[in-house]
Amino acid sequence: MKLHNRMKIELMSLPENVGLARIAVAAFASECNLDVGELEEIKVAVSEAVSNAIIHGYQKDANGVVTLTATLQDNVLEIIVEDKGRGIADLEQALEPGSADDPERMGLGFVFMKSFMDEVNVESEPGRGTRVRMIKKIPKNPQAEN
Ligand SMILES: Nc1ncnc2c1ncn2[C@@H]1O[C@H](COP(=O)(O)OP(=O)(O)OP(=O)(O)O)[C@@H](O)[C@H]1O
Ligand SMILES: [Mg+2]
Repeated sequence: MKLHNRMKIELMSLPENVGLARIAVAAFASECNLDVGELEEIKVAVSEAVSNAIIHGYQKDANGVVTLTATLQDNVLEIIVEDKGRGIADLEQALEPGSADDPERMGLGFVFMKSFMDEVNVESEPGRGTRVRMIKKIPKNPQAEN
């Protein structure tokens, strides 16, 4: 298996770093053979996962560390967003639409991630943290020799 590229970023748990994560992932994915719409969807999925880590995982405590890893391997783009925060007690319920306990939120973050990415796996342990792994299949570029 040929590894094409990998990026790993540690972000402080600050709301403005959601934008940084979006830009970093967009730049990383720009080498993939994706159209503008697909790139936009990946950016939204990453924003949702990173926002969740900051807002729910660390409850806006800026000292938390959010790790964003992007790997391009063969024709798969894998993105992992990890926090060592609060964790999710009822994962099954959290993955349902509208599960937010805060009336200000729509509870659609995971729904967006699942609809925009080909695969989404969430692992979480209360008190330990949360790991969101997302996969996007990259179409083969007929021009490229890879
Ligand atoms: N990284 C995380 N750490 C702890 N809890 C989380 C994390 N990510 C999600 N959750 C929990 O899962 C619920 C559902 O997340 P989801 O992103 O779908 O909705 P939301 O964040 O509540 O609302 P929205 O994303 O629409 O603003 C959250 O309300 C929160 O309780
Ligand atoms: Mg959310």
